[in-house]
Amino acid sequence: MSAATNNNGRTPVSSRLPVFPWDTLSDARSRASAHPGGLVDLTVGAPVDDVDEGIRRALGDGAAFPGYPTTHGTSALREAAAAAMQRRFGVPGIDPQSVLPVIGTKEVVAGLPSQLGLGAGSTVVIPEIAYPTYEVGALIAGAQVVRADSLTQLGPERPDLLFINSPSNPTGKVLGIDHLRKVVEWARSRGVIVAADECYLGLVWEGSAPSILDPEVCDGDFTGLLALHSLSKSSSLAGYRSGFIAGDPVLVDELLTLRKHAGYIMPMPVQAATTFALQDDAHVETQRERYRRRRAELLPAVEAAGLRVDDSEAGLYLWATRDEPCRNTVDWLAGKGILVAPGEFYGPRGATHVRIALTATDEAVTEAAKRLRS
Ligand SMILES: Cc1ncc(COP(=O)(O)O)c(C=O)c1O
Repeated sequence: MSAATNNNGRTPVSSRLPVFPWDTLSDARSRASAHPGGLVDLTVGAPVDDVDEGIRRALGDGAAFPGYPTTHGTSALREAAAAAMQRRFGVPGIDPQSVLPVIGTKEVVAGLPSQLGLGAGSTVVIPEIAYPTYEVGALIAGAQVVRADSLTQLGPERPDLLFINSPSNPTGKVLGIDHLRKVVEWARSRGVIVAADECYLGLVWEGSAPSILDPEVCDGDFTGLLALHSLSKSSSLAGYRSGFIAGDPVLVDELLTLRKHAGYIMPMPVQAATTFALQDDAHVETQRERYRRRRAELLPAVEAAGLRVDDSEAGLYLWATRDEPCRNTVDWLAGKGILVAPGEFYGPRGATHVRIALTATDEAVTEAAKRLRS
């Protein structure tokens, strides 16, 4: 019996998955917690600011509905998503029929390879330094994972699915129009599906970040393209579990059919809250300004402490290095009572960086900046 096989000869899918990395931070957490000023936790990207009043009211308004909501979501939600994509990101032409609400985008990333029918013998390409769930999704499906940032790295290979993430977690790097155009052309010429995780698209600090569905990227043709959007970060709705997929009508319809059968249904109160959040840009702007201020305070303090901040022009993290193994930097910062995530969580190429989250309260960010400068 192999280590992965249990007594019944069954091999749990969970045995294919990596060790949950956060458990390996316990020593650094203890060290940081021992700081006389207490722990400043800048590890995870979980929002800390109160949910907007209007969104909360909309959630309540949706609470009286007793029946099953539809998997496709209300037409109001889908229309609001299509309109938000045009208003916020300059993407016209999304047919509300080709919008699919999801229960947060993590479940999409983890389920997409399987739901698209990929498995043993399939190949999923993920960024070299990446949100860990892309790899997890491919492993759940039993597919092969290739880490690559450039198309030339892939040579003549024809993968089945390419995940891209701009702006990136953890690096904050943005892929520009030319890069994305090349990706789309390349994917079309090989019949590769592109899943663009755009959950940080509304959080750009320098320059601009195009969607994969931007007409300048795809000429208005969404074939083979799926954009994944989350409300967790831009609307501080991580607790509601809310996002949507938009893009290729055929692929969206295929996923809708599967998700109807499987019962992946966004709860009705969340559909109501999501609709409101997608119609209202004011709370998004307020939230963005909070993060802009926190970044403006933290980034120079991180540099003053002798770290170099790479990329990080968008998103909710600073991707920083002292050009040493990332665990040394984690320990050094833990000595100041600041806990950050080691870059190795995001792939071997992250081994000399740490990820510093901007998702902490104003007080915590000010305290971190003070300690970094002392
Ligand atoms: C790149 C990326 N994609 C997807 C997600 C998942 O977001 P959610 O499931 O809250 O929509 C996250 C969360 O941190 C993320 O960083």
